[in-house]
Amino acid sequence: MAETTDFTGYDLSDDDWAWLDGVYEKLTVKMRAEARHLGTMIPYTPRDGKYHDLDMQDGIYFWTNGFWPGMLWQMYNATGEELYRETAQGVEDRLSETLTGFEGLDHDIGFLFLPSSVANYRKTGNAEARRRGLMAANFLMGRYNPVGRYIRAWNRSYWAGDKVSGWMIIDCMMNIPLLYWASQETNDPRFKHSAIAHAKTAQQYIVRPDGSCNHVVIFDSETGEYLDNPQGQGYASGSAWSRGQSWAVYGFTLSYKHTGDESFLNTAKQCAHYCISNLAVNGWIPVVDYRSPAEPLKYDSTAGMITAAGLLELAKYVGELERPLYVKAAMNILRACEAKFCDWDPERDAIVGGGTFYYYDPQGKNTEVPIIYGDYYFIEAIMKLRDSELFIW
Ligand code: GLY
Repeated sequence: MAETTDFTGYDLSDDDWAWLDGVYEKLTVKMRAEARHLGTMIPYTPRDGKYHDLDMQDGIYFWTNGFWPGMLWQMYNATGEELYRETAQGVEDRLSETLTGFEGLDHDIGFLFLPSSVANYRKTGNAEARRRGLMAANFLMGRYNPVGRYIRAWNRSYWAGDKVSGWMIIDCMMNIPLLYWASQETNDPRFKHSAIAHAKTAQQYIVRPDGSCNHVVIFDSETGEYLDNPQGQGYASGSAWSRGQSWAVYGFTLSYKHTGDESFLNTAKQCAHYCISNLAVNGWIPVVDYRSPAEPLKYDSTAGMITAAGLLELAKYVGELERPLYVKAAMNILRACEAKFCDWDPERDAIVGGGTFYYYDPQGKNTEVPIIYGDYYFIEAIMKLRDSELFIW
């Protein structure tokens, strides 16, 4: 476990503190309204300003279903209001059916259970929530391929006409903290050894020397041999999908936090510098892919929210002379995205607009829309800045 040495809080300008107070005020109004209106509904992206229950591909198994309870736990931690705890508990009870249903689960089980059951256990000590978290960790561990040394992504098994089951993706850097947590909780290092091996493989095959990342890497699952890095959710093979970049910044920071291995911290910095330099020349609002043509211009605010939260976490583990780079960049992203995309009207669902699921979206239904994880990471970043975060990852 890495130490946060001399970190005692974020050093912000008076103007930033005033912005933060204003945002927190609006957040409490909006979130109270959403919690009352949504209850244990599981939201993804609103239609005509309103969320609909499980309105996404894959229903209860969809990878984003932990973010609503995560938002509720952050609000409960900050305010102590029972509404948030009760609602988060109700959503978690619904999500728990995936553990017995089993077949729809995949590597994204960390996104489902870290912000729900594990958050519940961390905050309240709930024994049933701990059991659910450990079941989820055992499932994730079962996806580890010991020859290729990675956690297998997805359940589909065809690529380019061939049968392939050896997928690895950058997003999974945010799932492996479930394994670090399980090792600590059970005093059994098997979980963390798999997580470390996966993170080392990601360093080798996903992160390029300039700090940009592949989204997907394919291995021969029988031999572990590298086969390809296809396009994924970004513009092309060899491009730099901005949300993938944000998973790398935050994910490698977390692997450093949980292991103290300096190489992970350096990889996180490398990926952070790639994001910061691209954002600095583009008004601090991420496009969907940092290595795509200027037209059509498509934003992805969710990449901004995740990058900001990741940079604020990274800032805790560097010295005081390095810290302002990450904190100022995070503030620039948050403020630019808030000004351009946030909807604070409590009558309408969702906060941060401008989220994009993938680069190619012919019908435009998933382009520049509010997406639940944009809201989650925005709230998490605000709570980090205010020192009232419930640590989730
Ligand atoms: N984890 C899938 C995505 O970021 O879209």
